[in-house]
Amino acid sequence: MKKFIKILGLLVVVHGMSGCENDATDVHASAAETKVSAVLWGEANNQPVYLYTLTNNAGMQVKVSNWGAYVQSILVADKLGKIEDVLVGYNSWQEYYNDCCYSGPVVGRFGNRIAGAQFEIDGQVYQVTKNDGGPNKDINQLHGGKLGLHKRLWQSKIISNGVELSYLSVDGEEGYPGNLNIKVRYTLNQQNEFAVAYAATTDKTTPVNLTLHTYFNLSGDRKRSIEGHELMIAANKITPVDDLLIPTGALQDVANTPFDFTQAKLVAKDIRVSDPQLLKGGGMDTEFGGFDHNWVFSDYDGSLKNQVSLYDPQSGRLLEILTQEPAIQFYSGNFMDGSVSGKNAKPILHREGLALEPQHFPDSPNQPQFPSTLLKPGDTYQTQSVYRFSVK
Ligand code: GLA
Repeated sequence: MKKFIKILGLLVVVHGMSGCENDATDVHASAAETKVSAVLWGEANNQPVYLYTLTNNAGMQVKVSNWGAYVQSILVADKLGKIEDVLVGYNSWQEYYNDCCYSGPVVGRFGNRIAGAQFEIDGQVYQVTKNDGGPNKDINQLHGGKLGLHKRLWQSKIISNGVELSYLSVDGEEGYPGNLNIKVRYTLNQQNEFAVAYAATTDKTTPVNLTLHTYFNLSGDRKRSIEGHELMIAANKITPVDDLLIPTGALQDVANTPFDFTQAKLVAKDIRVSDPQLLKGGGMDTEFGGFDHNWVFSDYDGSLKNQVSLYDPQSGRLLEILTQEPAIQFYSGNFMDGSVSGKNAKPILHREGLALEPQHFPDSPNQPQFPSTLLKPGDTYQTQSVYRFSVK
């Protein structure tokens, strides 16, 4: 199914259409198909780390890796046709290996926080690894624990229009019950839609909440702060949080608060309004904080719906997020402070990226009134989010 060819010292893995044997070094899939190629990017545990490139006929490119299921870049045209990168991240695999800040991986088994890094299922208490909260980060769990899914090597294969990644998270990994078999499919179509389809099965009941933790900056190659982006979230409520960003359990109306994004507005518009919830977002803007909250979609029914849009008026780039998930975490890059260097050795400045993570609510395993995140043996976890790019 695969051919390994040495080109310029790089191992290039060439795949034909639908996984068929193909002898060409430059693969041209049929006109309707997205081209997929791979280069050897690094090595982890004596296993190859690949960087795959998905290229559609419009010239849009998405680069993904089997390391942590990272999405390394999304290159897409602005209104003048200029193709630039709209993701914050790094150039090399080594930088992703050392990534501090979830710059584009799949996070899990449980995206976002679990209070006390603990939950109970059928009378049994599970203690998962602690990596968040307080000065020593030893109170709660964030994004699946220290290694989570983002510091693991996944299996990978090229599929039609994309790449399928799989990972077996064994019983007890990061404290979670059950062997969890995870599959993530990244595909790109000719309509500039990058789709992420998740599936998982388990042999013991366990919470699952997978999401993609990409930081967007639609200006292209991080030319401007994301404060000048216009954001719309089709949500009338958020789950307000305590000082450690754990949901209190209540739902709070967004009306007449800085959290109202039901009509598209500039991220900057209300980010410096004095508001107790905004302050919890913390970060560099010590006087006001920032957004780091979970918005609850008003018309969630489990089907794929267009729930979020992000627009950069200067470049004309528009991102719409369609998702089957009930909520989204919007984090406005409050802790970005220039201390980490990203692509092309440029320091990642305050609010140079924002994360939009379609998900179930944080701390669901401890909040029975929230939609359940429990996966039982015999059932299949299945969900999809689509990132649709265009210009206007
Ligand atoms: C999520 C969290 C934030 C922050 C980022 C990663 O969005 O909610 O508080 O931890 O991940 O830096």
